[in-house]
Amino acid sequence: MIYNAAPLPFQGQKRNFIKQFRELIKDEFRAHRNGIFIDAFGGSGLLSHNIKQIYPNARVIYNDYDNYSQRLANIEATNEILQAIEPITKKYKKDEKVSGEDREKIIKIIDEYIKRGYFIDWITLSSKLLFGGKYAHNEDELKKEKTFYVKNPKTPLRQADGYLKGVEIAHKDAMELIKEFENKDVVLVLDPPYLQTSKAGYKCFWGLRDFLKLIRLVREPFIFFSSENSDILPYIDDLVEYGDEAFKGYSLKQAILTNGQAKTDYMIYKSGVRGLF
Ligand SMILES: C[S@@+](CC[C@H](N)C(=O)[O-])C[C@H]1O[C@@H](n2cnc3c(N)ncnc32)[C@H](O)[C@@H]1O
Repeated sequence: MIYNAAPLPFQGQKRNFIKQFRELIKDEFRAHRNGIFIDAFGGSGLLSHNIKQIYPNARVIYNDYDNYSQRLANIEATNEILQAIEPITKKYKKDEKVSGEDREKIIKIIDEYIKRGYFIDWITLSSKLLFGGKYAHNEDELKKEKTFYVKNPKTPLRQADGYLKGVEIAHKDAMELIKEFENKDVVLVLDPPYLQTSKAGYKCFWGLRDFLKLIRLVREPFIFFSSENSDILPYIDDLVEYGDEAFKGYSLKQAILTNGQAKTDYMIYKSGVRGLF
């Protein structure tokens, strides 16, 4: 089975781009079908999963910086917690506001599971309890939300067996991982966070300096994700104009994403000339 979206919620996953990504991998990166792909900013693993499904003989390294695989491994526990809160949430209609009293009861149930040493998937739980695509990443973030809502409480999460089958998992800083493969023939799949200009409130700050460090590590073959908002194309054109070899002659695919507000996302890529037949 091939997933078009990550099995558990993950903000920034490339599900709106997955069809174009698959086409790109099939059409332009076939020469690397037995090679190595490094998904350095792996997020939910959706890109790694898709590459492995398309090229089962490739070595695919999924850099799981956010420990998403731990959330996957705990789907059963998360379902148990969801089931425990269901007697409360089932009184409500979808998207209905939960009373303050019931919110307290839900928190009490979650606290019980914390006491019992359960792994708590805050993002998935909050996706069922918060409104408007809001997520909590930890206990404090969930508890500070004064209003809970009911979002599809009865749908148990589907097991995701096989989603990461055959994929190698790393948990490292992306730059470190890329440097480890410095002299090897690898395809770099780079989907970094969007540039942030303020460090306030961010657990993993990704700023201009990180972005520039990454740009210096880019080499062919690569796929680099970006968006129109980040103004990357004029910057890359400027790099090329001043002699940058890595991006010289790059190709581009775009997707107009219409989730909420229309915006253009890019896949900037070079597939390399050295085939691995
Ligand atoms: C845009 S998301 C990637 C989404 C992914 N392609 C998917 O489809 O799920 C960027 C990811 O990079 C991670 N990240 C941030 N700083 C990082 C670093 N220094 N090294 C590796 N990953 C990092 C973020 O936590 C986030 O998961």
